[in-house]
Amino acid sequence: MPVPFRPTRRAGWLYDRCPHSIECGTGWIMDVGKSAGVDVAVDGIPEGGALEVLLDADDRGSSVVLLRRDGQVYAWRNLCPHAGRYLNWAPGRFLFDQGRLVCAAHGATFEIDSGLCVDGPCRGSSLVPVSLTVLEGGKVRVGGGA
Ligand code: FES
Repeated sequence: MPVPFRPTRRAGWLYDRCPHSIECGTGWIMDVGKSAGVDVAVDGIPEGGALEVLLDADDRGSSVVLLRRDGQVYAWRNLCPHAGRYLNWAPGRFLFDQGRLVCAAHGATFEIDSGLCVDGPCRGSSLVPVSLTVLEGGKVRVGGGA
C-alpha cells in the first residue's frame, strides 16, 4: 500500500518530489518496509547479472534490482540517486561496465556490493538497500519484515 510522499534526505540527496521521477507521475512512493516481501529463488538470479522484482505487482515504483556475485545476493531499490530514474533501460534489462551497475539514464556507475556511486553525475551517493532474508530451499525474501 503506497503512502504519501514526504521530502526525504537519502545519502545526502534531498528529494523534494517523488523520486520515481517523471516516469511515476503519481506523487506517491511505495513504503518498501510495509511490503510483505517477495520470495525469490537464488538460482533464478543470474550470476554476474541482475533480476528485477516488484514488491507490489501493481506499483512499478516498488521495483528492486537483485544482483548476484560469487553466490552473494545484493538488493537495491531500482532508483538512481541522481535524478530518481529507474536504473534499467527496459523491464528487467540492466547495464554493466567492468562488473559495475550502470544507470541507463545518465551513466552513473555503482559498486554491486556497497551500492556506492563511483563514477558519473552522483558520484559519492549510494543506492538504497532493500532487506534480504535467507530462507530454506535456496530462496531469499526481498523486502518485508525479517
Ligand atoms: S538518473 Fe541515473 S545517472 Fe541520472
